[in-house]
Amino acid sequence: MPYQVLARKWRPQTLQDMVGQEPIRRILSNALEQHRIHHAYLFTGTRGVGKTTLARILAKCLNCETGITATPCGTCSTCQAIDAGKFLDLFEIDAASRTKVEDTRELLENVPYPPVQGRYKIYLIDEVHMLSNHSFNALLKTLEEPPQHVKFLLATTEPKRLPITILSRCLQFHLKPIPLELISDHLHYICKQEQVTADKTALNYLSKAANGSLRDAMSLLDQAIAYGQGSIKSDDIHAMLGTIAQQNLFPLMKALAAQDSNQVFHAIHLLAEHTPDFSNVLEELISLFHQIAVSQVITYQQKTDQQITELAALFKPEDVQLYYQIALLGRRDLAYTPSPQQGFEMTMLRMLALQPKQMVVQVETPTLTVAESPSWQEILPKLDLSGMAYALAANCTLEKIEDHKVILQLSANHQPMLNTKLKDRLRESLSNYFKQAMQLDIIITAAELYTPAKKQEQEQVERLTDATKAATQHPKIKQLIEMYDATIEVSLL
Ligand SMILES: Nc1ncnc2c1ncn2[C@@H]1O[C@H](COP(=O)(O)OP(=O)(O)OP(=O)(O)O)[C@@H](O)[C@H]1O
Ligand SMILES: [Mg+2]
Ligand SMILES: [Zn+2]
Repeated sequence: MPYQVLARKWRPQTLQDMVGQEPIRRILSNALEQHRIHHAYLFTGTRGVGKTTLARILAKCLNCETGITATPCGTCSTCQAIDAGKFLDLFEIDAASRTKVEDTRELLENVPYPPVQGRYKIYLIDEVHMLSNHSFNALLKTLEEPPQHVKFLLATTEPKRLPITILSRCLQFHLKPIPLELISDHLHYICKQEQVTADKTALNYLSKAANGSLRDAMSLLDQAIAYGQGSIKSDDIHAMLGTIAQQNLFPLMKALAAQDSNQVFHAIHLLAEHTPDFSNVLEELISLFHQIAVSQVITYQQKTDQQITELAALFKPEDVQLYYQIALLGRRDLAYTPSPQQGFEMTMLRMLALQPKQMVVQVETPTLTVAESPSWQEILPKLDLSGMAYALAANCTLEKIEDHKVILQLSANHQPMLNTKLKDRLRESLSNYFKQAMQLDIIITAAELYTPAKKQEQEQVERLTDATKAATQHPKIKQLIEMYDATIEVSLL
């Protein structure tokens, strides 16, 4: 007997045989048992999750000679004919290869005639999004008022490409990617049936690589059986997939945590000996940072991997966030690097270079040209004042200098600063400055004054604004903002 690929050999024959998709199976089972049957079903979902399989099973459920049922017998001539692809009333069309309107018309022409062999004529249109617009229109007419004896089963990976008019006439079921554990369990079951010895970690790696697609998982299993000549081991799987076992990354992680560049490169060279695909290594690294980050915040006691907990203790949470981000960007740019290993090395170098510390970049700020207000601004710095006395003076403006008398203005909201002691201090230093005994009058005014203090405050704001502007335009900072979605915090030294 010729070798049949596992995906076909193990195509589920009943709703119960299917892996995952539990809610859909339940809804369909109930509907079938209660004979509440819609005239058009649409199965959507990513590749290899069971759309076509489900449609074929439904064809049997509707036509099994034991009656409409959720559990077709699989032994009657109808069930067998459907399984063998020889059932006369099942029209299975691959829309991808028959997109033209003539094809669709020809197909739909015999819709009005009753089934020749079974209860229903079933039109299973796979990859239905590939039909042309004219074809959709032709189909739409039939979908509007199909005869009692006709059922449509449509399947597509891209429901968004279907006209809304079609979508609204179908009962839609969205099949989900199959969870990793279910895939792994299923592979385990298949291995047992096929008498293949397989280690559990190896099957986990295969399941992970399948990315939610059971068909991909089965194809990988086929390959793995051929590769390992009947037995499946982790090392073989890594060699086959170009992946790397997570624990092989631990020395690299430890070197990174220690910020030891030599050890980091030594670890990369050891990794390279396994000749992995470095984009997979980067992916594994990203997933490792994720696990570390999670283990750092999740406090409830779970059965976490001891090794991850140990690694997590070596990194600060904010470092993990940064490294994760760098690794993600590294993976994004890997296609542009001359070789994946080089790309990987550069990514690690970035991690070593960009430890999350505050980055101080000196930016030249433009010199300020603030219109000088006369006299007081010049006198004040020469007055030999400090502390509160200086603050008081800085909040005044000069009204007038008469013979032996200085008249200052102070705005009413600064009046609380004023007391005899400070006023005396100010008068003394004015006398020193003018080298003669001076009187001092301080007039309280309701007006808003442009005082040296006010001027200084304005200058501060302007310098900060200018510095922020200059920083935003600084090429190095610009790059950092783009790469790491950073924000700028400018402070004046
Ligand atoms: N939910 C499932 N349970 C069990 N086996 C499945 C399931 N989904 C897929 N398979 C396996 O994958 C094979 C392909 O499945 P199927 O043709 O139904 O996928 P599909 O969703 O129609 O994919 P595509 O979008 O590529 O047409 C099946 O023969 C079966 O071996
Ligand atoms: Mg399909
Ligand atoms: Zn049957």
